[in-house]
Amino acid sequence: MVTINERRLLDRIGKLGQIGKDLDGKRTRLAADDAEKLGRDAVVAWMREAGLRVETDYIGNIFGIWETEENKGQEPVMTGSHIDTVINAGQYDGCYGVLAGIEVIQSLKEAGVKTARPMAVAAFTNEEGVRYSPDMMGSLVYAGGMSAADACASVGIDGTVLGEELKRIGYAGTVEPGFLKPHAFVELHIEQGPILDAEGYDIGAVENLQGISWQQITIEGAQNHAGTTPISYRHDAGVAAAKVITFMRERCLKSNGKTVSTTGCIAFEPNAVNVIPSKAVFTVDVRNPDEAALQAEEKALADYLVELEKTDGVKITTERLSRFKPVLFDEGIVKLVEKYAGERNLRCRRMTSGAGQDAQNMALLCPTAMIFSPSVKGISHNPKEYAKDEDLIRCARVFMDVMSDLAGANT
Ligand code: GLV
Ligand code: MN
Ligand code: MN
Repeated sequence: MVTINERRLLDRIGKLGQIGKDLDGKRTRLAADDAEKLGRDAVVAWMREAGLRVETDYIGNIFGIWETEENKGQEPVMTGSHIDTVINAGQYDGCYGVLAGIEVIQSLKEAGVKTARPMAVAAFTNEEGVRYSPDMMGSLVYAGGMSAADACASVGIDGTVLGEELKRIGYAGTVEPGFLKPHAFVELHIEQGPILDAEGYDIGAVENLQGISWQQITIEGAQNHAGTTPISYRHDAGVAAAKVITFMRERCLKSNGKTVSTTGCIAFEPNAVNVIPSKAVFTVDVRNPDEAALQAEEKALADYLVELEKTDGVKITTERLSRFKPVLFDEGIVKLVEKYAGERNLRCRRMTSGAGQDAQNMALLCPTAMIFSPSVKGISHNPKEYAKDEDLIRCARVFMDVMSDLAGANT
């Protein structure tokens, strides 16, 4: 029976995890920065070692393609994920999926397996959206949801332009995004949440993914003296920002656990201990699995901002950073995941992805689903993110079963 090379997969995860890691063990590879370039170089080297044809598209998505004389011209079965990270990240988010994709194809090739369809693995650009908005950008462009030119013109939080950065690191590619029309897409990822670990499941069959709304809010108040200005005289941008954050927390608490809202970035001006802030710029990330409910949250926030302008005497503007609707994955592929998990005697749970994923954009192009591997204590977007080797391997085996089935492998 064909199986993956477990040691090789774990070694590669560890090696990629060293890239961009500082002395405190914190790892940062933002899209198209110097550390991410080194990560890309490693991934390309492993794709070549696996004997794959490597192509890079205009938005810097990297593809490793396995095509034979017999299956040439057929739509490929694709997988992929990302190797960019958030700030101070773990080593599994995204990387596990890319490296397991290479591993599955390499193992099938080495075992002399023939497949009716080509196979391809992608490392998509800027999934995290930390440096450039929107998130899941490379897969969005690939699926035709945004032009490569618009994406490349995106200006980062550090003032850089993505297209120029891709050129600088040598990954401004030469092929049109969408150049391979996939027959199916399957993404393997760690869960990044606590459910599988807490409930004692071995694997997740991901059937849907929640909607994501990102905005940047700017509140302008009046700068004044912290000691001499009576509270009733203030137009405090900092207090107004705090009210927005707590308003959204109240909305979450009223939503029966469905809405989650996060303010992950905030900056005050002039940012001094004894000065009332004249300006607050912050982000709001709101998610809900139901589109109507997500729209209701966005409307509640917009109405609240109008009220806040009046009550606090401040001026508020908003900028849309990113918006993705909830996605329903392909029932046929979800059932395949359950089938092969069952054949390997694994406890499988259907689940919703709380995280944004490249698979949600690929679902615009072809039948798509995801597989989740347990995350210990559900910690992610944190250097303490951890997944057990045995879980990673078990789920990668099911992933191989599903990919082989979809590609018509003669195993
Ligand atoms: C991607 O990691 C997200 O923000 O969900
Ligand atoms: Mn991810
Ligand atoms: Mn992530």
